[in-house]
Amino acid sequence: MEKTLSIIKPDGVRRGLIGEVIRRLEKAEIEIAAMKMLHMTKKEAEGFYAVHREKPFFGSLTDFMSSGPIVVMVLKGEGVIAKYRKLMGATNYKEADPGTIRADFATDIEKNVVHGSDAPETAAEEIKYFFSELEIVK
Ligand code: RTP
Ligand code: MG
Repeated sequence: MEKTLSIIKPDGVRRGLIGEVIRRLEKAEIEIAAMKMLHMTKKEAEGFYAVHREKPFFGSLTDFMSSGPIVVMVLKGEGVIAKYRKLMGATNYKEADPGTIRADFATDIEKNVVHGSDAPETAAEEIKYFFSELEIVK
């Protein structure tokens, strides 16, 4: 069974969009297998986004991701990585399909409300960053 990591980013939490994002997951019949709220330090955000270390937006992205609490979830189901990325919409909200989370709520290429893993290998690593096996519903 495929798994992916979802994050409601600090802008989403700050703007009261936790319920809206979860409602969309439930409406799409995506199973939530784990969920918690936490506030990353700058160092923890740098660890999470280590793949983007060399990008020009790394400093700004990790400042933003450590700027407030986030909600992290493990989503489970057949094809859930692609299914959830489809719900999120493109990274740049201006290119996101209408009706996607980012098209409806993102305000900026960085403040785009949600994160979703992009492949099974990255999903496994990202899930491990936040959750122990015990915390994930079997
Ligand atoms: P995510 O990892 O958050 O699900 O988003 P993604 O795969 O669609 O985008 P990715 O390329 O992995 O970038 C990670 C996050 O970095 C911010 N970003 N800023 N200023 C910029 O040009 C820029 N590009 C990306 C966004 O918050 C993006 O989601
Ligand atoms: Mg990504």
